[in-house]
Amino acid sequence: MIIAVDGPAASGKGTISKALAKHYHLPHLDTGLLYRAVAHTVQRLELDPTREADAVAACDFDELTLADPALRDDEIGKLASVVSAHPLVRAALLQRQKRFANQEGGAVLDGRDIGTVIAPAADAKLFVRATPTIRARRRHAELQARGAPTTFDQVLADIRARDQRDSSRSTAPLVPAPDAALLDTSFLSIEASVEKAIALVEARRHKS
Ligand code: CDP
Repeated sequence: MIIAVDGPAASGKGTISKALAKHYHLPHLDTGLLYRAVAHTVQRLELDPTREADAVAACDFDELTLADPALRDDEIGKLASVVSAHPLVRAALLQRQKRFANQEGGAVLDGRDIGTVIAPAADAKLFVRATPTIRARRRHAELQARGAPTTFDQVLADIRARDQRDSSRSTAPLVPAPDAALLDTSFLSIEASVEKAIALVEARRHKS
């Protein structure tokens, strides 16, 4: 079974995907990490993230980069949203994601374009969302817990800018697949979100 989970920053898609992977005993890929690894490599090599050729050169990143905690930095998230808008960067990371999705036994993938581009034939597709204010509150708490010096207003502005960039790019924009089930986590606890996600997956898989 392939489960595709898409949604904007801090919507809860990562937590939900990990819980789904555990529940169904499936491997999980956080595809955002791949774009974050490209962003981190661009930064380390002092390349220009707005230049497609520079960003493509960074797609050949060292696999160890994926385990670097610095990938979670807010700055890297912002940079990831810049490099991920280049069509050639998306093309360079496409096969790797498709291979993961189509491995024997199935998989859970989360990102922005899993249900639309990476695994359009997924057995279950979820689009996870929450209001920008609630997502900013969650991300702000996360960053504060890591000791990052940032204000709520700054996080909210960043979330809005990233939503805008991710939704308006011409290649693989952040949009729900037409057959995705929408899951709004704005007023749900983690436990309730996960329960609802499992119920939605069950409803989908019994339909097909
Ligand atoms: O957790 P958060 O949503 O903040 O970030 P992420 O999922 O790690 O993604 C970081 C950035 O990578 C996003 O803002 C997107 O621009 C990009 N991304 C993408 O374009 N396609 C994906 N499948 C995953 C991430």
